[in-house]
Amino acid sequence: MTNFSTIYKLSLVAVACLIHACSSSCPVLECWFVQEKVGRGGGLTGATTQEKALLHIRRDAQSQGAESQRAPSDINPDRVYTFTDPAATLCQHALNPPRGSIKKPLCEVNPFLPQPSSLKWVTTLTESALSPVYLEAEWFSSSFQGLNDQLGVSAITRAPTGSKEHDVILSVSSKTMSAQSRLGVPVTLDCGFWADPSSPLSSTGFAVEWRYQFRGDGRVVLAYDGKTDRVADSHEEGATMDFEGLHERGNVSLTLQEAKVRHSGTYICTVYLPYLLAQVAMELEIVEPPSLSIHPSPLPLAVPGQTVNIQCEASGFAPLPLELSWEFKGADGKSRPLGAGSVSGHWQASDGTFIQSTRLELDTSKLDLGTGGEISCVAVHAGGTRRASAILSVIGFSGPSIEDSMAMVGVALVLYGLIKFVSWTFTSSGSDTAGTQDKKEK
Ligand SMILES: *[C@@H]1O[C@H](CO)[C@@H](O)[C@H](O)[C@H]1NC(C)=O
Repeated sequence: MTNFSTIYKLSLVAVACLIHACSSSCPVLECWFVQEKVGRGGGLTGATTQEKALLHIRRDAQSQGAESQRAPSDINPDRVYTFTDPAATLCQHALNPPRGSIKKPLCEVNPFLPQPSSLKWVTTLTESALSPVYLEAEWFSSSFQGLNDQLGVSAITRAPTGSKEHDVILSVSSKTMSAQSRLGVPVTLDCGFWADPSSPLSSTGFAVEWRYQFRGDGRVVLAYDGKTDRVADSHEEGATMDFEGLHERGNVSLTLQEAKVRHSGTYICTVYLPYLLAQVAMELEIVEPPSLSIHPSPLPLAVPGQTVNIQCEASGFAPLPLELSWEFKGADGKSRPLGAGSVSGHWQASDGTFIQSTRLELDTSKLDLGTGGEISCVAVHAGGTRRASAILSVIGFSGPSIEDSMAMVGVALVLYGLIKFVSWTFTSSGSDTAGTQDKKEK
């Protein structure tokens, strides 16, 4: 009984520690502070400068965080900032690796200039032409990338001019920085946002835009006007958002009802507040392994010495490449590789999936196939390895010896001579019908 209660107490302590550790571990992040160079005459030159910066993240102005930690010597003390993030988006585990880990989260801070958007579904947010005094402050746009692509966050922060204590006003985050999906199933790209409810900018409403980008080509997938609560633009059938979760939990995840090959690419989730925007870009890849079929099916009986042609077609797969090969498993249960065969080029079906095939010329005289066995076509693909098999039966399995072959050639010669002799006898008798007979026999 005492044992049991001790275990119980210990587990309580452990749970308490866990909660404590999870809730109180806001990181100190080393970042790049990147800004455009100001050229002579005050204009922006287009070139950028980058300096190291240090961000102390905390949940609220009271919590101490790790401020006692001294800034590394290579960081200019003027570039040490405090970010207060009440939603704790920046305190997630992926941005806070254990101390001493070699891999570090990526982080970049840029100065940000609040301005009204000209996008159709966003302009409603800034209808009053006056920009609030609230905007006269120091604004940063920062992007963070957690370890192993687990998390991406973008945050807009504000500090009173001259202060280095920033408050997160808007943050957008995603947990599907590199997503994969099979074909034909629903796929959800995660995106969530948080807007400081005490900011005068969050009372007017928000807008959301999902953009698709592939090889320099871009288009709007779905745009949502949060002020009128309407889908403002949609260019993709079956693309939806959870319109309740949108307002209740800031969940603006995009769901594509049926994944297609052409959905592979980059998706950018942008959330707009009046004058502000934050965005996270993520990758989606549609990965579908091939279906294999072997022709002819079933395989014909093979005679020793004969060459058997076997075709294997891999279809419905994406993306390229695919690695095709052949294997033979004999009666002894051992597998032997037979090489790749003659692999064809690939072509694309109307749904964007690929088709490719390979032909095996199986020379039964060169290989010791015994009574036959199992011929397999193996396809190695990013979506998994697939194989198709067919039974190959070899008749007269002992295989002809040299003497047997010689005897067969001898018999053939004798037969040939006999036929020749017979036909000669007939033709010399001068009959036309016999001539035709001769041709037929040949
Ligand atoms: C957000 O919404 C999507 C559906 O649109 C859902 O699959 C997902 O679980 C939601 N995420 C959270 C954190 O609620």
